[in-house]
Amino acid sequence: MLQEVAVVWAGDMVINLAKKGNNIIFTYHSNKVEADKVVTEVLSLGQKAIAYQLDVSNIKNFDAFLDQVSGHLTQHEGSPNFDFLINNAGAGIYGSVSETTEEAFDAMMNVHFMILDDPAGTYTYLIEELNKLDFAYVELMRRSPYFPSPAHYPKDDEIEFFGRKIRQTIIANAGYDKDSTEAELDKGIAKLISFGTLFIANPDLPQRFEKNAALNEPDKATMFSGAEHGYIDYPLLND
Ligand SMILES: Cc1cc2nc3c(=O)[nH]c(=O)nc-3n(C[C@H](O)[C@H](O)[C@H](O)COP(=O)(O)O)c2cc1C
Repeated sequence: MLQEVAVVWAGDMVINLAKKGNNIIFTYHSNKVEADKVVTEVLSLGQKAIAYQLDVSNIKNFDAFLDQVSGHLTQHEGSPNFDFLINNAGAGIYGSVSETTEEAFDAMMNVHFMILDDPAGTYTYLIEELNKLDFAYVELMRRSPYFPSPAHYPKDDEIEFFGRKIRQTIIANAGYDKDSTEAELDKGIAKLISFGTLFIANPDLPQRFEKNAALNEPDKATMFSGAEHGYIDYPLLND
């Protein structure tokens, strides 16, 4: 049986994926001893595993990493292709502001909030490469009003600027309401719109849009933390 190959950015996920019958390539930042233990555990589960060192905060490392992965897969599996890429790299600094060094802060920002010198050029390159691949859709997120872009970022409408270059079906995302959804779909670039906040606050959002009904006001205070309150108890239209 052809087994599926996953490339993962470390974490407990490696073991869980191996338990589900996947062969794994994963990365670690500096702890080779722990990475080797994970490889041994995956092998004991009857799956293949290999760990590569990669510092994801420096994109200059990515080409060499891709060459390593492609070379390994070609040599051992007969093809450079893999089935899943799970990009779950993350870093946290658990200390007070006064304990945090500039280097540690920069390293965290470089993983989580990369600021590009040339975002239009970088994403255009990415899109051109994605256009060569065969898959169903791209979800294209507009810039968030909550996270203003750096001053050198273009001010163009992202859906128009990038969307026109994308070959796959586009799902546009971020900050849409009914009117802006209809206006976006009328443009014809995005075929679908996805919702986060409004759907959390309105479990019957499609029906409300259809009936032009009022929407529940999202409560941001219950949204990014806490338990089920604020996720399962917004009223339906007929409640
Ligand atoms: C409660 C909540 C949690 C979210 N968590 C994540 C997340 O972990 N990763 C991510 O990429 N986006 C996350 N998002 C962003 C959504 O995926 C989506 O892009 C966004 O909500 C769309 O904008 P909208 O909420 O205005 O519709 C989150 C959004 C909300 C409301």
